Amino acid sequence: MNNKIIIINGPNLNLLGEREQSQYGSITFRELKDICLKKSEELGLTTDFFQSNIEGEIVNLIQDSRKNFDGIIINAAAFTHTSVAIRDALNIFKKPIIELHISNIYKREEFRHKSLISDVVTGGIFGLGADGYILAIISMQKLLKK
Ligand code: DQA
Repeated sequence: MNNKIIIINGPNLNLLGEREQSQYGSITFRELKDICLKKSEELGLTTDFFQSNIEGEIVNLIQDSRKNFDGIIINAAAFTHTSVAIRDALNIFKKPIIELHISNIYKREEFRHKSLISDVVTGGIFGLGADGYILAIISMQKLLKK
C-alpha cells in the first residue's frame, strides 16, 4: 500500500509561533505537527514529521526516503532559495513531492521569489498559512491513490 509519507521542514520552522507571526501566524511547531498527524491518520496515511536546521541532514533524509516513503511534502524554508543539494536529492526521488510554503514567497523580498526546487516537484502550495499543510496532505493522499 502506498501510504507512507514524510513531511520535511527546513531551518527555523521549529520556531513557529515565535518567529515573524505576521508571515507565519501563531501556530506553534508542536501544534502544526499534531494537526498534520491527525489529518494523516484520518486519511489513512502513516506520516513522519521532521525538522532540521542542517542542510546535509535533509539531503540524507531525502535519500533515505527513496526506500522508506511513498511521498514527500517539503517546506525547505530558506534552503528553498539556496540549496542545489536539496534540489538534486529531490530530483532522485521518483515519487510524488509537494513543495510547501506557509507565506506567499512571491509577495516578499525578491530573493525569496526564486525556488530551486519548484521544477523538480510534482506541485506546490504557498501563501495559505498552516492550512497549506492540510491541503498538501489531502493532495498527497490523492496522488498516492492514482
Ligand atoms: C518559508 C518561506 C521561506 O522564504 C523562509 O525562509 C522560511 C519559510 C514559508 O514557509 O513561508 O523559513 O518556506
